[in-house]
Amino acid sequence: MIPLARPVIGEPEERAVLEVLRSRQLSLGPRLPAFEEAFAARVGARHASAVSSGTTALHLGLRAVGVSEGDEVVSSPFSFVASANVILYERAKPVFADIDPVTLNLDPEAAAAAITGRTSALLPVHIFGYPADLPAFEAHGLPIVEDACEALGAVHAGGTPVGGRGHPAAFAFYANKQLTTGEGGMLVMGSAEHKVGVDSERNQGRAPDMDWLDHDRLGFNYRLDDIACALGLAQLERLDAMLAGRARAAGWYREALAGMDLQLPCADTGGNVRGWFVFVVQLPRGVDRDATVVALRERGVQSKPYLPAIHLMSFYRERFGHRPGEFPVCEDVAERSLALPFFPEITEAQVAEVAEALQSALK
Ligand SMILES: Cc1ncc(COP(=O)(O)O)c(C=O)c1O
Repeated sequence: MIPLARPVIGEPEERAVLEVLRSRQLSLGPRLPAFEEAFAARVGARHASAVSSGTTALHLGLRAVGVSEGDEVVSSPFSFVASANVILYERAKPVFADIDPVTLNLDPEAAAAAITGRTSALLPVHIFGYPADLPAFEAHGLPIVEDACEALGAVHAGGTPVGGRGHPAAFAFYANKQLTTGEGGMLVMGSAEHKVGVDSERNQGRAPDMDWLDHDRLGFNYRLDDIACALGLAQLERLDAMLAGRARAAGWYREALAGMDLQLPCADTGGNVRGWFVFVVQLPRGVDRDATVVALRERGVQSKPYLPAIHLMSFYRERFGHRPGEFPVCEDVAERSLALPFFPEITEAQVAEVAEALQSALK
């Protein structure tokens, strides 16, 4: 079976993890600041705080910009559910707006129309690693928290890496991501004040100069341990090669799928550069996607509908009364999207096998 995702793990990762085990300093040790500093440098951010997941990074990012009960946060319905859930953690309301049919990112005009007097922040998502149109969102003067969980390696028009524009931006290190620590995440940010608050809140609300018996604010246990940080550091060393492997695979897919009736991921335009994360195609309207997944599996190929529209998930329907038809572009894309096997070490022969399997599944 050709799997959907497969992390690159080798001798450097094994050595890095063993070193931590042998040091006996498994948490709050030297790898934590080392990983944060190396990661911040990589994305051109002033500060970074390593946390337990992309979700917890987003949560602390929203708290940093002051999102609180009763606020509205405008975001994309075409994302992983975590980017909306974190808004609810603070008893604020996710307000969705439709997406751009080409980039699949939050449509700036639709987002602008969704802003009200209660909007306290915008949460654009760099979906599938394609840079969201940040200048358009920045024009509103509202705080921005970026969901960059899928976008490590992406670059905005003008050359700034995604994560380097000064807003709190969340990255995720789950095993399918461009860089993995097993589970893990990173919040990068431009503000030193935010960094102090985030570091405290991830560690139960304790300030760095405080005795462990006292805590001066509400906090969480969102820490990332030193084993994960060591893994992350080893992965950072080979990040360029892993990103290049994904980009190469994307090129093979483009060629192999060229003659088929599929919508492929948009090409880089206007100076934006995608940080390749997944290879998601949109099937023609009317094709039975579930049957396609089964047919692919029978031919030895894993695939997955990716992503479902958040507003149509049962929890969001029940809680907010969302119904089909509200965000037609998102719903159309969500109904037809299919993720194909995609990882740095996939071979050209495997890509050809996936393409053949898809062609015969669609017949
Ligand atoms: C767009 C997006 N947002 C948020 C997350 C949440 O990250 P994590 O699974 O590390 O909590 C993910 C990762 O799956 C994601 O793809």
